[in-house]
Amino acid sequence: MSSAVSPDPLRLALGMPKAELHVHIEGTLEPELAFALARRNGVALPYADEGALKAAYAFDSLQSFLDLYYACAAVLLTRADFRDLMLAYLQRAAADGVIHAEIFFDPQTHTARGVPLATVLDGLEDGLAEGLARHGVSGRLILCFLRHLSEEACFAALAEAEPHIGRIHGFGLDSSERGHPPSKFARLFARCRELGKPVVAHAGEEGPPAYIVEALELLGARRIDHGVRALEDPTLLTRLARDGVPLTVCPLSNIRLCVFPEMARHSLPVLLAAGAKVTLNSDDPAYFGGYLNANIRAVQAAFGFDAATWYRLARNSFEASFATDEEKAGWIARLDAYFAGAGMITDSRP
Ligand code: ADE
Ligand code: ZN
Repeated sequence: MSSAVSPDPLRLALGMPKAELHVHIEGTLEPELAFALARRNGVALPYADEGALKAAYAFDSLQSFLDLYYACAAVLLTRADFRDLMLAYLQRAAADGVIHAEIFFDPQTHTARGVPLATVLDGLEDGLAEGLARHGVSGRLILCFLRHLSEEACFAALAEAEPHIGRIHGFGLDSSERGHPPSKFARLFARCRELGKPVVAHAGEEGPPAYIVEALELLGARRIDHGVRALEDPTLLTRLARDGVPLTVCPLSNIRLCVFPEMARHSLPVLLAAGAKVTLNSDDPAYFGGYLNANIRAVQAAFGFDAATWYRLARNSFEASFATDEEKAGWIARLDAYFAGAGMITDSRP
């Protein structure tokens, strides 16, 4: 990339069109909406008010966060709740320049409380349709299995999902990573692939690099969610870069969950320097200090990337999506036009 003038890289990054590939819809539940839904549904939250809830956002591990995240999800009961949640996310995403989002949802969290899967899907799809019409963001749903549950329970969740298979864009694996390796779900993911869906998996967030290898080899994962501990295994990192395996990195999440002690110590620059296909994402933005552009601000404050790096990250987000080649080409053309409008000549090679 070259330019006559040098626009501010942060300003460019905040305004550029981008895709978000790693966001849990339940993780977009802001305290205000949580309490509004609790009132609407007559559900008691274990916190006196929004302030008390926010004060509890001091996590020391993935599990400490998940405990609170599952407790708050209890306010989501009706089709309208899921619609409101999705629409609120898409509005915030659009304000950050997101034009496409592949959004995780955790059906087992809801069906375990007696909420039918059809209610969850109906509501999320209502929100997607309205989000597209109002904000121009295209969205797809990725069903995540909870890895702390048994293989049998996850097969039951898949059986429940199969009648709705046309509404599900892909399958993922999330929740407590340590002690729940991808190998536990090899047969489940084989069935997901038989259904013709792309699969992804959280790996190498808190768990070791060996879990990333398992996700690739035993689950057939097409993207690795997080993957930030790949830097501990240079052979793996070389392989990820060589094979162009996307890593959906979530910087603020990794700091809030103590994967790295501070942003300056995050593996992101090492992953990029190794040539890994990194994308930036917000994970659970209501809990971790902000949406995609808050992540961009925090990364830029720590690492001061140039415009070419920001272009590469946005481009990766489109290339790594599970959209059609036609959709991807359209989004990349928009990205190129945006950078050209800022006086930057982009390298259009993949
Ligand atoms: N579910 C929601 N956020 C998660 C994360 N960061 N890791 C694993 N499971 C999750
Ligand atoms: Zn996640």
